[in-house]
Amino acid sequence: MSEVTSISAADLYAEIGRGSVPYILDVRNQDEFAAWQVEGPAPVATKNVPIWLAVEDVENLAQEIPENSVVVCAHGNGSAMLIEMLKDEGRHVRNLEGGTAAWAELVIPKELPGMPDGVLGWQIQRPSKACISYVFGSDGGNAVVVDPARFPEPYESLAAAHSMTITHVLDTHVHADHISGGPDLAMRTGASYHLPVEDAGPKVPWPNEPLADGQEIDLGTTKVHAFAIKMPGHTPGTTCLHLPGVFLLTGDTVFVRGVGRPDLTGKADELAKELFHTVHDRLQPLDPNTMILPAHWSTEAEIGADGLVATTLAHIFESTLMNEDDMETFVQEIVGTLPSAPDTYDTIRAVNAGKVVSAEEIEFLEIGKNQCAASTTVG
Ligand SMILES: [Fe+2]
Repeated sequence: MSEVTSISAADLYAEIGRGSVPYILDVRNQDEFAAWQVEGPAPVATKNVPIWLAVEDVENLAQEIPENSVVVCAHGNGSAMLIEMLKDEGRHVRNLEGGTAAWAELVIPKELPGMPDGVLGWQIQRPSKACISYVFGSDGGNAVVVDPARFPEPYESLAAAHSMTITHVLDTHVHADHISGGPDLAMRTGASYHLPVEDAGPKVPWPNEPLADGQEIDLGTTKVHAFAIKMPGHTPGTTCLHLPGVFLLTGDTVFVRGVGRPDLTGKADELAKELFHTVHDRLQPLDPNTMILPAHWSTEAEIGADGLVATTLAHIFESTLMNEDDMETFVQEIVGTLPSAPDTYDTIRAVNAGKVVSAEEIEFLEIGKNQCAASTTVG
């Protein structure tokens, strides 16, 4: 068998962004494709043809797909076989190295502009789940990691590249859509781990401490500190980070377009009211130029030309929902339009609060893009 041309997950992401991937042929089965797909920072034509059908129909497929397309399967083996067959038909396409398993682990660090002197900041995007984590630190100093994905390596290598010691790991809330890497990263690095007790309950089986509203957190250097800010609404205990006049991490409370769904802990009405107070009492008074840095995006429309999922406080208040002054109307607009939550979310929350499950179940629980936004968009 001759060598199959392959492309790494990171290069595929970059190429999708540049618009140079003509077509993605996903040969996983239909259920797997329906659960989640390879999506980058720009739209790309994608078609699902399960491998057995693709093999049967390889002559037509070779006519149908353009040169340089990318074939995707679960681990990159079935797709490699199909690519050989397509080559025999005169069509040269590429293989996603490691398949969707590699894509699931892909994270893209993007340096944040506008940090104060001596502070570096990165937004770390995970395309398979549209999840975002953050690292702030100083060269040769310390670092804070917020909402890490479950693979510690990207955070450890970023810290190593800048000679930073990770001293604090924060989860803004008990996540329902993905398995947190926070406890593991904190244990591996010796950092303190912070998780809101209102979300997790008092009996979390690993060392942790909640952050008090207003508590100072050094951003890698004792010269610059951010403040913990309670922002309930998506969960009762969501606690974010605020560097006045510069940035506000918003967790899943507010996104570039939309707000976090308040129903995942079973208290939709109560939390929608808390969300109203967070928006009006905590966010509205802040500097309108504050950079809003959320923990998710829902569609690629939320990714800016600079590749960042970020906006200003002023921009999020351009929507009518965020300016709704009547609490009952605000609550109704959100609660009345909520999509149903995925079946796995209660278990994911339990795992993130300490429930132990098998490695296979973790893989299963991690499947699929986040569904943490309320369906009421505000962009
Ligand atoms: Fe989430």
